[in-house]
Amino acid sequence: MHARVAAATTAALLGGAVLILPSPHAKAGGRITAPLVVAHRGASADAPENTLDAIDRAAELGFEWVENDVQRTSDGRLVVLHDASLARTTDVEEVYPGRSPWNVRDFTAAEIARLDAGSWFGPRFAGAKVPTLREYMERVSRNHQKLVLEIKNPELYPGIERQTLRLLSNEGWLDPVHLRDRLIVQSFSAHSVRTVHRLRPGITMAFLGTPPVARLPRYAEFADQINSDHRSLSSDYVSAVHALHGPHGPMKVFAWTVDEPATARRLAGFGTDGVITNVPDTIRRALR
Ligand code: G3P
Ligand code: CA
Repeated sequence: MHARVAAATTAALLGGAVLILPSPHAKAGGRITAPLVVAHRGASADAPENTLDAIDRAAELGFEWVENDVQRTSDGRLVVLHDASLARTTDVEEVYPGRSPWNVRDFTAAEIARLDAGSWFGPRFAGAKVPTLREYMERVSRNHQKLVLEIKNPELYPGIERQTLRLLSNEGWLDPVHLRDRLIVQSFSAHSVRTVHRLRPGITMAFLGTPPVARLPRYAEFADQINSDHRSLSSDYVSAVHALHGPHGPMKVFAWTVDEPATARRLAGFGTDGVITNVPDTIRRALR
């Protein structure tokens, strides 16, 4: 059993700007002793997922770490959206009837910019946009936040790894400060994780999944983290990951998507290093 410390992050509102103080994890010298709380797709229980509103809401709640999903338009622009299709989280079916199944990769960035990505969640968010990754990075930077960036469906977007790195570099996110503790790149595709690691070995990489323990050493060659569905985790599995060294030190485990307080506490008991959640404030309270 690992010792527990409060994981609260303090935020102060100063003239409209959000000041977020470092969490205890940022200064922990050795093994993290309380799970880091990551806002999944932003504070996605309070605001439409993967929008700028969702990361602003996470900042208002005092959360440094947000997670997103990156895909590519038909004309080669990177945008932030979870599903391969625009249908669930935008009004694309009304704006572009007849273009089923409304996949991101079949629309230009200009077409996607016309969509409303907020009304489905609530009238208060009408007019919210699908952000481009550039817009998203600028807002995360302005909010002084940190990012778990997921390369989503990379098999649909050849070369998306190199393109994402180019954009991150242009936005100043591949400098030593950001690489030290502001950026994690993850994917369900081991090939994609390995590719990013090969292109920029300084980036903290995470594989999304729960590989068999016997295969973990192979993942440790290119990943620093195993980010698993919480239902697949056990204390023994977390310990098996912790026993390995990734490219930058002892490997870690983040669990998703952890929205129940009891689940968060159970995972904390396993020594899980991070929990990715739609309800970060609820989980922060549960872990105090
Ligand atoms: O961050 C982990 C989690 O986002 C993976 O699942 O489907 O929500 O992208 P999904
Ligand atoms: Ca994701």
